[in-house]
Amino acid sequence: MISVITSGKGGAGKSTVSGGLGCALARRGRRVLLVDGDAGLRSLDVMLGIAGQAVYDIADVIAGNCPPSDAVYPSPICPNVFVMPAPVSLERLAQPEDMQKLCRGLANYYDEVIIDCPAGIGAGFETAVAGADRAFVVSTPDMVCARDAQILARLLREREIPARLVINRLRPTPILRGKMPDIDELIDTASLQLIGVLPEDEAVAVANAYGKPLPMDCLAARCFANIAARYLGEDVPLADLKKA
Ligand SMILES: Nc1ncnc2c1ncn2[C@@H]1O[C@H](COP(=O)(O)OP(=O)(O)O)[C@@H](O)[C@H]1O
Ligand SMILES: [Mg+2]
Repeated sequence: MISVITSGKGGAGKSTVSGGLGCALARRGRRVLLVDGDAGLRSLDVMLGIAGQAVYDIADVIAGNCPPSDAVYPSPICPNVFVMPAPVSLERLAQPEDMQKLCRGLANYYDEVIIDCPAGIGAGFETAVAGADRAFVVSTPDMVCARDAQILARLLREREIPARLVINRLRPTPILRGKMPDIDELIDTASLQLIGVLPEDEAVAVANAYGKPLPMDCLAARCFANIAARYLGEDVPLADLKKA
C-alpha cells in the first residue's frame, strides 16, 4: 500500500506522523519505507536518525545516478523502517509521473510505502500524491488548519485518492473548557473521516529533534499504535478525552 501524508500548512506534523506511523506499523510486523517528498526542506533523515549518512536521495534515483536500493537507509531507531531522503534542493523536485513509477516499483519490496508530502497545494503536492493509493491529512486542532484540510480533502477526492484525517497536537484542557473547537467540529470542517488523534507531547518534540525513538510508554506512542491498528483495518475505539 502506498500512502501519502499531507497538510495545508507546514508544522502541522506531516513528518512526525509519517515517522511515528511508520515505526508503529513496523512494530506490527510490516516492512516500511518512508519516502521524503519534501524537496528542499527534508526532515525524515533527522527524525529517523540517519542525518549525515545519506549520500543519495530520490532525485538521484530518478536521474538514474544510482539504483533505488542505494538511496534507501535503514533507520537505527526502529527495525524494519527505511528512509529514502528528499533532495536538499527544490530544483530537483521529481515530476509526478516519475514519482508514480518509482513508488509502484518500491511497493514490490516493502509492505508499506509512506510518502511525506511538502506543505501546500503546489507542484510538490502534485508530485507527492501522484503515486499514492490513499492519503492522510494532518490538521492541528484549530479551524484555520481544519479548513486547509477541507481544501486538501477536495483536491484528493478530485484525484480519486481516499483520505482520512489525523488531528495532531491535541490539548484536551482547552477543548474541555469550551475554549477550542472540539473534535466533532474539526471533523465536520475538514469533511474527512477521522483515523486518530495525537496529543501535544513533549516526548514527540524531543525524539524528533535528536532522531531518537519515542518512549513506548508515552501517550503519543500509544496513539500511534492505535492509528497503526486502524490503518491495518482493526476496530479500535477513540480514547476518552477526559481520561487522556
Ligand atoms: N504531537 C506533537 N507534540 C509535540 N511536538 C510536535 C508534535 N507534532 C509535531 N511536533 C513538532 O512540531 C514541529 C513540526 O512538526 P513536523 O512533523 O516537522 O511538521 P510538518 O512536517 O507538517 O512541517 C517539529 O519540531 C515536531 O517535533
Ligand atoms: Mg515535514
